[in-house]
Amino acid sequence: MTARLVVLISGNGSNLQAILDAIRLRVLDAQVVLVVSNRQAAYGLVRAAQAGVPTRYHPLKPYRDAGRSRTEYDADLAQIVAAAKPDWVVLAGWMHILSDAFLRHFPYRVVNLHPALPGQFPGAHAIEEAFAAFRRGEIKQTGVMVHLVPDEQVDRGPVILSAEVPIYASDTLETLTQRIHQTEHKTLVQALQRLIAGDE
Ligand code: GRF
Repeated sequence: MTARLVVLISGNGSNLQAILDAIRLRVLDAQVVLVVSNRQAAYGLVRAAQAGVPTRYHPLKPYRDAGRSRTEYDADLAQIVAAAKPDWVVLAGWMHILSDAFLRHFPYRVVNLHPALPGQFPGAHAIEEAFAAFRRGEIKQTGVMVHLVPDEQVDRGPVILSAEVPIYASDTLETLTQRIHQTEHKTLVQALQRLIAGDE
């Protein structure tokens, strides 16, 4: 049965594009039923619209301006997402930490992509930190991972799939970032294939 995916983004949406392309090429038996962004300028919203996927902009600022809590923001986000009846909620470059006010609505159904190997470089600067660690001679490679998000731990959870990414002496931050994103695109689609197959 075709899996229903809701994808949460905050930026360029190249990983969303990888999912949309895999669906179009029949590599992924899924349908993106909704894309939500916390940033209105996120190019991923354009990508979704071009693919005919419904989008929703859900900013945090109005909650902050009204003195409303992050919990309320997350609870409202959960209602928006739940209305689309997802089988999986995919965090593809979603830059907010989700509290249990959101997660409890989708137990073991939230999937996060992170540009580092399991247990390495949590947070929003993983690629830069890996590059710096390489330059200090501390690591020879980095990687990407796709994991479930059962709780509020940042970029940690049961790993569905990870992939190593080599770092070369000739690399700049830009060349490494590009290689990592290319690996993310493949790894995310493969991880979703596994999850969807496991549901059947
Ligand atoms: C990816 O590297 C993702 O792992 C990280 O943010 C980036 C989003 O890229 N959380 P994109 O918006 O999918 O192009």
